[in-house]
Parts: sequence; C-alpha cells; structure tokens
Amino acid sequence: MEFGRMLHGGDYNPEQWLDRPDILDEDIRLMKEAHINCVTLGVFSWSVLEQSEGAFCFEWLEEMIDRLYREGIFTILATPTGGMPHWLTEKYPEVRQVQADGRRKLPGKRHNFCYTSPKMREMSGKIDRKLAQMSLRHEGIIMWHISNEMGGNFSDGACHCEQCQEAFREWLKKKYKTLEALNRAWWTVFWSHVYTDWTQIHSPVPHGENLLHGLNLDWRRFVTCQMTEFLKWEIASLREYSSLPVTTNFMYFFKNLDYYKMQKELDVVSWDSYPFWHKEKDETSMAVKAAACHTMMRSMKKEPFMLMESTPSVINWRINNPVKRPGMHMLSSMQAVAHGSDTVQYFQWRKGRGSFEKFHGAVLDHKNGGSTRTFRDVAGVGERLAKTEGLILKSCNKPEIAMIFDWENWWAVEDATGPRLDMDYKKTFLQHYRAFWEAGLDVDIVSMDYELTGYRIVAAPLNYLYRKGYAEKIEKYVREGGTYITTYWSGIVDENDLCFTGEHPLEKVLGICQEEIDAPGEEFGNSITFHGKVYQTGNLCEVIHSKGAQTISAYLEDFYAGAPAVTENCYGGGKAYYLAAEFEQGFLNDFYRGRALEAGIENPLRTHLPYGVTTALRKGEKDLIFLQNFNDSRVLVETPGRYEEADSKMIMSGEIWLNPFECKILTEV
Ligand code: GAL
Repeated sequence: MEFGRMLHGGDYNPEQWLDRPDILDEDIRLMKEAHINCVTLGVFSWSVLEQSEGAFCFEWLEEMIDRLYREGIFTILATPTGGMPHWLTEKYPEVRQVQADGRRKLPGKRHNFCYTSPKMREMSGKIDRKLAQMSLRHEGIIMWHISNEMGGNFSDGACHCEQCQEAFREWLKKKYKTLEALNRAWWTVFWSHVYTDWTQIHSPVPHGENLLHGLNLDWRRFVTCQMTEFLKWEIASLREYSSLPVTTNFMYFFKNLDYYKMQKELDVVSWDSYPFWHKEKDETSMAVKAAACHTMMRSMKKEPFMLMESTPSVINWRINNPVKRPGMHMLSSMQAVAHGSDTVQYFQWRKGRGSFEKFHGAVLDHKNGGSTRTFRDVAGVGERLAKTEGLILKSCNKPEIAMIFDWENWWAVEDATGPRLDMDYKKTFLQHYRAFWEAGLDVDIVSMDYELTGYRIVAAPLNYLYRKGYAEKIEKYVREGGTYITTYWSGIVDENDLCFTGEHPLEKVLGICQEEIDAPGEEFGNSITFHGKVYQTGNLCEVIHSKGAQTISAYLEDFYAGAPAVTENCYGGGKAYYLAAEFEQGFLNDFYRGRALEAGIENPLRTHLPYGVTTALRKGEKDLIFLQNFNDSRVLVETPGRYEEADSKMIMSGEIWLNPFECKILTEV
C-alpha cells in the first residue's frame, strides 16, 4: 500500500472539542508545525455520528475532513464500532457480550460487542454504509480503519452468549460432519465425556468444561473465525460504496486472535505499539520485543505495514508510566520504520479533559500548546520522515531467515498440562529471536502455513503442534537445501492436539528420536559445552537419541550426561538442527550466529555489533541500513564498509559513533 508519503499523524477526536473552535484552529496550525500529514478520525465516534437510531449527524466530520485536506492532511476514517452508544445497548441488549461466567456485560467501556449478534451486524452495517457513501464526497479520505483493536484489551476477547454457542456448534458441524469424528478428535472417552448430541457442547468456561484440549483449541479457532466474519461484514458494508483500502489495528502478540488468519481480509496490516521503555536501564529486551512485533506485522504480507498507534510520550495504564527519555521517541519511531513501517502514527493528537485517557500521552498536552519537549520530539520525527521518504518508500525488508510463530501452537502448548505448567511460548520464541536481533539479522516471522522456499534458515522453537502438511513441507525444504532449526517439545501433537504415536513426524529429517522430557527443579540444573564454552540449560531438558544425527553438544550432568543436547543432521541437500534443551541466551546467540555464517548470511555492516545495538535492512533502489542504538550511552560500531548517512549526507567509514538512543539511516557507498 502506498500513499506517496510516509504518513505521520494519529488518532484525532475533534468531536470532543466541537464547542471550542479556538482549539480546533490551534490543532490545524500545530499539526502543520509538527509535520502531520494524516489523522485518524472516527474511532469511538458512534454516539456523535448517530445520536439515536437512524439520526445520523456527519456534518462536523465532513467539515473536518475537508478542512484538514485543504491544509494537506489526509484522513484515515474509522468505523465507530469499537465503542457502542448507550441508545444501542439499551434498545438491543443482545449486542452486549456475555462473559465466560454467563453474565451479560453491562453497557459502557469498549471492545465488548457480540460479534455473532445479527442486530450488531445490522446496526454497524448501517452506519458503515452511510460513512462509505459519505466518503465519496471527500477526496481527503485515503483509507478505512475498521473498528478498534478487535477482541479488546480488557477481556478474554470472546462472547459466550447463546447465539455464539449456537454458531460454535454450527461451526463444529461444518468441520467434523459427525459427532463421532468430533469425539475422536477431542478424545472424549477420557473421563467419560463422549458427546451424544451437538447441544451438549458449550464453550470452555471456568465453571464448566475447560480441560478438553481439543474443545479449547477449536473454541479459540472459532473465536478468530467469528471475529474475522465480523471484520468481513464491516468491510463488505463499506465496499458497497467505497473501494478505498482497509486495515484494522492489531495489538502486539495478542493471544486471543490468530492475526495471521485475520490479516488475509486486510489490504494493509497495521498495529498499535506500546513498549514499556525505561522499565529497566537495559532496554534490550524491550527493544527485542518491539522489533519482533514490527517484524511479524511486516511478515504477514511481506509488505510494509503501518504503525497505527504509538505514544508520543507516556501511556497511563501501567503501574508506572515513564516519560520517554530524550532520543527514545525518535529511536522507537525509526525502529518501526526500520522493520518495515511506512507510517509513524500516534495515540493521540490531543489529550482529552476527562475520563480514562485524560493522562495518556498525546502530541498536545492540556497546557503549553507546541512549547513542549514532546511536541518538539514529534515534529522532529515528522521532519525526518519527510526528508527521507524518497529513500524509504518503495523499500522493504527481505530477509533470508524465517522464524515460525504460530497461534495454534501457542494455544496448544500453553493449554497442555505438562511438561511444566508455566510453558511460555512467546518468551521462548523471543529468546530465539533475540539471538538474531543481537546479531543484527533481519528475519521474517511467519506461521506454519507460509511458503518457506527461498529462506536459507528456518527456525521453529517450541513447535509443539504440527498442522497437516507441515512435516512434509519441512522435509521438502531441508531436502532441497534449507537449514531447519527446531527444539525440544516439537512435533508432539497434530492439529487436534492429539499426540503423534510411533515416531516424531520429522524423525528422518532431524535424525533423532525423543524419549523423555525432564523439567528439573532449580537444584538439578544441567549444562553443555559448545565450542569450548560451558552453557547452562534451562527449565526443560529432553533426553533424545541419535538416529543418524551427529551430536554437537552433550549434557554434562545427571543420569543423561553424555546424551545429545544439540544435534546436526544432514538430510538431502540441507541440514536440520535439534536443540534438545532450553538454553541460556549466550548459547542461542553463539549457536544462531554460527548457523547464519555457515549459510553465508551477515548483518549489513558485516561486523560484530556492540551490546544493545542492532541493524535492520530495507532493500530498495538503494538499500537502507537502520543502525539503532538502544543504549543510553554513546557506542562505537566498527565496520569495514563506507556509508553515507541519509539525513546529513555525511560519509562514514571504519568507525561509526552512535549517540545515546540514536538511529542512523545509512546507505553503502
Ligand atoms: C490502544 C487503543 C487506543 C488507546 C491506546 C492507549 O490500545 O487502541 O484507543 O486506548 O491504546 O494506549
């Protein structure tokens, strides 16, 4: 998706200030000063746009869109379904979600509509169609923003009402055809829970069934599917009149919805990024997490994404909310761009005077207009984007490494009871991702469904669940020359969360067989040696045997001392590695660095980067290297290349000094 500009802007709610024309005038004046070229209007504006059923009032919105456009500012127009007006929830209570405990939610808050309710679809369809018709009169509108953070951040994201239960049963009938097939897939003979009628099936809830893994997994799939149906409904309503591109704003690693599935309905992926900067003095783990999210959003379509929301200063919903230290606003904004964003957008333009978000950071505070550090920081980002957009647009990251991150695997591995109760897929994934980040290597983060041909390395940590066809895909990938890296507790269950029997589905490719998995207590730590260094193992140690694989490292202690802990197996034209245990970060860093070198992959500066520093590469007419320093101190990067800095046009070679929290954009000369 290309708008010919790097978009810089954010959520703007002029409807909160309609009685203050002086404020609206000041907004436009300061937007121009801050190099804002795009705002998002209409998020949560339903009660102002439709004041009672059918009483639409768009004048203020239309006036605002035109006025902004005259000043060179585009509008992303949101559908207002993120928050429901009281006339709607009062008149049609069925649009309100029912919680897992069976209670229907009371009106208020947001992100809490029932996505199955025909009434909710009817009412949202009506206003969406009206907005789409209206959009034809306004050139300033460039895209649609569906609802807001679907699935919500204050709930489990699911509705358990009778209509949803009924829809779930229908969904299951379509999937399994017969109850026999469902009973087999869910292993219901266990504890005598064979279903004999579809009506006996109920969503998993704390006071009912929630230990049937197959049910839990299908319910989560259904929730994604149903939410996606709602998303499609909104899109289709707009499409009756408008062909503008659509997006919806995703959230970080949001466990409740499988974003890889939902994104298929969107023209462009966008997301809201709120890292906890300055939580610790060492920003690295936060930088890694944010980088992984940006990377995943880009990888979904392998195209530039949009940073739809970020805070210009503080947030207001964590126990402590640090202000961004000097440099961090620029760095965190450029980090998104480095990983493929073509926009930097904020929540929010101006702080409201009341209610829940009155102290959430905004470009404009309640006081001081444009005379604030935050405002100057934002203007600085706008200026930089405007200056460099010619280089950045039309470029995108094209990594040679892929990592598998998969929602169904996430649900299943953390739902299973064993081998530990605190299995943490995201944390494990991020430890492996961090190894690439520290080496300055871009990766794509994709689900098990993506095509893998073309990647030189594929890493799949804690890949517990294999969907149908996955093992075959990996077998082909390795046979044709790829390097595949996977870990303990991989290939354990199929797509129904039923354990594989016989052998590991990739036994021949990996050249190993798994026997036991140990989840040792703290006093039973184990270790390995790798390239002469000793590394500690973590919370899980699998006991495996070689079936042709070469042992690179063996356990040093306990009854399984000498058993393989890291193996390498040549298969066809490629190689497969198995990491049998959880390892400390240092091992992962050394291990992955080695595999990358072996595959001929280097970071774009061809150097060892200092701690807290990374690179990302956007390939284009000119390849752009984003060199980012997440240390609050100056660091030196030594490199054999010669580079031009995109902003200053300065030539640098040999030594590149980075200021605290600095991001340089470099092209090789
Ligand atoms: C987002 C949400 C915004 C705003 C923001 C505050 O999750 O989409 O509307 O609430 O958080 O951080």
